[in-house]
Amino acid sequence: MTSFQHTAHPTRVVFGTGTLDRVADEVERLGRGRVLVLASADLAAAGDRIEKVLGPLVVARFDDAAMHTPVEVTARALEVMRGAGADCVVAVGGGSTTGLAKALAVRSGVDQVILPSTYAGSEVTPILGETADGRKTTRSSPDILPETVIYDVDLSAGMPVPIAVTSAVNALAHAVEALYSPDVDPIVEWLALDAITRLGRGLRRLPAEPHAQEVREDLLHGAWLAGTCLSAVGMGLHHKLCHTLGGSFDLPHAPVHAVVLPHALAYNAAAAPDVVRRIAAALDVIDPGDVPGAVHDLVLRAGGPVALSELGMAAGDLERAVDLAVEHPYPNPAPLTRAGIAALLREAWEGNRPATADGVRTTRITRTVLDTLSGTPDPRLHALMSDLVKRLHAFAVDNDLTQAEWEQGIDFLTRTGQMCSDVRQEFVMLSDTLGLSSVVDVLANSRTPDSTASAVLGPFYLEGPPELPQGVDITGGFGGTPLHVDVHVTDTDGRPVADAVVDVWQSDEDGFYDLQLPELDGPVLRGRLRTDADGRLRFWSIVPSEYPLPMDGPVGAMLTATGRHAYRAPHMHFMIDAPGRRQLITQLFPVGGRYLDSDAVFAVKPDLIVDFAARSGPTPDGREVAGEWRELTFTFRLGADA
Ligand code: BEZ
Ligand code: FE
Repeated sequence: MTSFQHTAHPTRVVFGTGTLDRVADEVERLGRGRVLVLASADLAAAGDRIEKVLGPLVVARFDDAAMHTPVEVTARALEVMRGAGADCVVAVGGGSTTGLAKALAVRSGVDQVILPSTYAGSEVTPILGETADGRKTTRSSPDILPETVIYDVDLSAGMPVPIAVTSAVNALAHAVEALYSPDVDPIVEWLALDAITRLGRGLRRLPAEPHAQEVREDLLHGAWLAGTCLSAVGMGLHHKLCHTLGGSFDLPHAPVHAVVLPHALAYNAAAAPDVVRRIAAALDVIDPGDVPGAVHDLVLRAGGPVALSELGMAAGDLERAVDLAVEHPYPNPAPLTRAGIAALLREAWEGNRPATADGVRTTRITRTVLDTLSGTPDPRLHALMSDLVKRLHAFAVDNDLTQAEWEQGIDFLTRTGQMCSDVRQEFVMLSDTLGLSSVVDVLANSRTPDSTASAVLGPFYLEGPPELPQGVDITGGFGGTPLHVDVHVTDTDGRPVADAVVDVWQSDEDGFYDLQLPELDGPVLRGRLRTDADGRLRFWSIVPSEYPLPMDGPVGAMLTATGRHAYRAPHMHFMIDAPGRRQLITQLFPVGGRYLDSDAVFAVKPDLIVDFAARSGPTPDGREVAGEWRELTFTFRLGADA
């Protein structure tokens, strides 16, 4: 059960193109006949047109409305109005002219007909913000609400793009904050979401098609809906901050909205997840965690301001702004803390792109780089490159990376590359020791849960090992505990896979691969075998032992510098290929081996820990073995080829 209250504010709305011509009808409809025309200096021409349409109904004109409705300007306009005996104001312009009309109406009871030229939205609210002695005060009264609003798309189409952007974001802020207001009701919610859809769509198209009628119509329609939301519910953090910054630091109203909205959204996102999800859907943003960033991008791409510093605010004023913003408590989804607001304002002052919900931050340079990638024809490459750039930049920003650290990193990677040769793959080892190889391996293997788990390839695999017959001894005379390997290869239903190609490789008793022993002539402890008709494979080897990764390169230096050991748990490698089957690269680890719980490359998986069972006495193939030997039995299950 959802309980709610809804108050509809009774403003008459006339929406369309060329509707300015209906202004005289609308004044007469109100029963008024003595009009004071209010226009801002930049809309003098529109004021003149209105005067022409109104003809003899006009008794006075005032073109000096100012930002934030200073009470001194209102006093002057009031004098003009009273002097002329006006009973109605017709105001054409943005928030400043509308504010002045409201200030006159609340003092004198005159009727108002407003023709908005921007997307302010204040024309449909009963709220008036005024400034006196550098402080902004806000009040609400039915007398403040304009009687009639004439929306003329042609009028707003003349608005320069930078003003269109900031005032559309101002409107967007009304809709956003309405959604998480404690007073929100189903009608307001519906209006707000439609407003966000229209404003988002309009803002996206605005830079390329600034004068397209559809674009301007979307923006004006959205602004009306958003203003209607503003009239119905209380606003939160965003508006509080904008009023503080605008009223006390003399910053321009709409541009402040454009800068602050992404950061206010980021501040509240975790406390209003449902709202953020709905905004994401309305704005067509795929990742709800990136809604604040997407709003920032929308402003930036449309050419709007993104930093308070850009608007002329001094860094030294931030402290006082924080004081003012937390002075009086008000409802807001996320609790208002001094530290939180200070961080928000700092981010807004610097113009940073808000971090995503999972903490990825990008700077303006990041956005520029991402833009250069936008033409990548392969969508997968585009996605991977974009994310890589975002995360690399975020790494640098979040850690305040110094030039020296960056140089050290480049040097490290250079040496890693230089260390690579036909028999040494330092880059693979870097990936292995950072766990990346195992992460990729888990991703690949988790897609085939019925098949045997895989494990990393490692740097010691050699292409094209010698083909060896069943029953072979691969030790090349190397000592160690004899191991009889007797394994099966099946499909995921347990049916034998005959003639599977199985490459095996392992280290010697001292922990070295043949590749690491230059005095050796030819491959040892490695080979290629094939399963028989029953999918079975048998050969002799030795029990593998733990061994350290080579420590003489940059990866070794990294392990030392981070206080890590270099040991791999004992293991034997397998690479199995069979027609129609997915290739399996894996390792088997003897139960009880050292480093099983701290393997240097994070390759150990429980299913791969196997009993290399101790045996004595006769061997399966009659081979003479003095003393203990071991037996490895295991079934590899291969998934079907994708
Ligand atoms: C290996 O098992 O051969 C290995 C794997 C990763 C890094 C170093 C060695
Ligand atoms: Fe190995």
